Amino acid sequence: MTPTGVSRRRVDEVLARETGRFAELRPRGTRLLHDARRSMPLGVPMNWMSSAYEHPPVFVDAGSGASFTDVDGNSYVDFNLADTSMFTGYGVPRLVRVAAERVAAGSQFLLPTEDAIEVSEQLAGRFGLPKWQYTSSATQANSEAIRVARTVTGRNDVVMFDGKYHGHADELLAEAGGDGVKPLGRGVPRDATRHVRIVPYNDLEALERALADGEVACVLAEAAITNCGVVMPADGFHTGLRELVSEAGSLLVLDETHTLVAGPGGLTGRWGLDPDVLVAGKSASGGIPLGCYGMKDEVAAVLDDPSLAWDQGVATGGTLFGNALSMAAARVTLAEVLTDDAYESAAALGARLADGIESAARAHGLEWRAHRLFNRSGYTHAPELPGNAEEARATFDTDVYNLQRLYMANRGVWDAMDSAGPACGIQHSDADVDRYLEVLDAFLAEVAG
Ligand SMILES: Cc1ncc(COP(=O)(O)O)c(C=O)c1O
Repeated sequence: MTPTGVSRRRVDEVLARETGRFAELRPRGTRLLHDARRSMPLGVPMNWMSSAYEHPPVFVDAGSGASFTDVDGNSYVDFNLADTSMFTGYGVPRLVRVAAERVAAGSQFLLPTEDAIEVSEQLAGRFGLPKWQYTSSATQANSEAIRVARTVTGRNDVVMFDGKYHGHADELLAEAGGDGVKPLGRGVPRDATRHVRIVPYNDLEALERALADGEVACVLAEAAITNCGVVMPADGFHTGLRELVSEAGSLLVLDETHTLVAGPGGLTGRWGLDPDVLVAGKSASGGIPLGCYGMKDEVAAVLDDPSLAWDQGVATGGTLFGNALSMAAARVTLAEVLTDDAYESAAALGARLADGIESAARAHGLEWRAHRLFNRSGYTHAPELPGNAEEARATFDTDVYNLQRLYMANRGVWDAMDSAGPACGIQHSDADVDRYLEVLDAFLAEVAG
């Protein structure tokens, strides 16, 4: 038996069978992946497209609505949503038209287009922060947000919470280790994280200690941790966080890259939070690359000085950042696609999914809990939800989950990556959720007990 209540022997047997079935169902994809290794490491354009899954990646043909098909004609209802970035679903007609028109009229000038004004006003309305800047990814937006905080405060250090993921820039890859903070992964200088302090989530005393010496430029946090399953804030955590950061003279940077899908103003809007800087990306432009950060006026002032030469102001840049295509896509996505009703329907489906996951587990004698974060669910393989990343890691069986993901991929359901949890987009239906739960039930019938 595994600690999750699942039979280890059955896991091994089902894994062997499903791995064989995975290859049988994808002869063309398997050949393409083999041939692609002539020109790309692991046969993929970005290493993570392979390493994010335990099974081989599938080569995609096309997406439509809440589903996509691979080059072998297998179809998948998509609960990974490309790690939330395809919350809008695929092939949204208005976005297709606007993007095609923008490409025909020029997609990139290294100059502003009028769309940028509307996008900034849209974001200001949603998040209550008046000034906005753009990059091509959330990683880059987080990096610039930290530089802004350092400029505003004249300090260097950054506090982050254990279990976070804020992107793959050198210092964002900081991880708490036995003997302090070190970078995760190879190729990052060992001292790249010397200005990062990591504290456990929901631990306000540890946060207070980390802020005590007055050297911290900003606390970079998610409103709920979302890359270690989901860890919800304890009662009073956000109030305490805001107070401690203000008392320390630091800035509060909330990274809503993942949680943007929770509601029109992300979790900031849902929970009435008050960040100094807010970072977003992924779903804001319907799958066309865009990162952004919004700021209070007094923070944005360090970017708003026309007398500074480019090499004397905050270190920003990026030739394709805020380009005409990204801004056109964001304008139509925010104004016409990501409506209040769309968020509510995705959140209702997310709740239905969470209810169904808990019922399915119960029906098979498993004491599991489902995460509930509006459109997003996920798994705790234990009776209690985690209060921090350490508890989240201890109550999640990666082997069982990755087998479930493989089993589902062989039956038309594309489950989330193991760091996240299944999420509903705005084009999902009750029938899609029912399909997920049907396959989950079949999986649990094979491995439970
Ligand atoms: C909370 C959070 N912030 C930032 C990022 C980085 O986003 P990107 O990979 O688009 O740069 C991610 C990616 O998963 C994320 O989950």
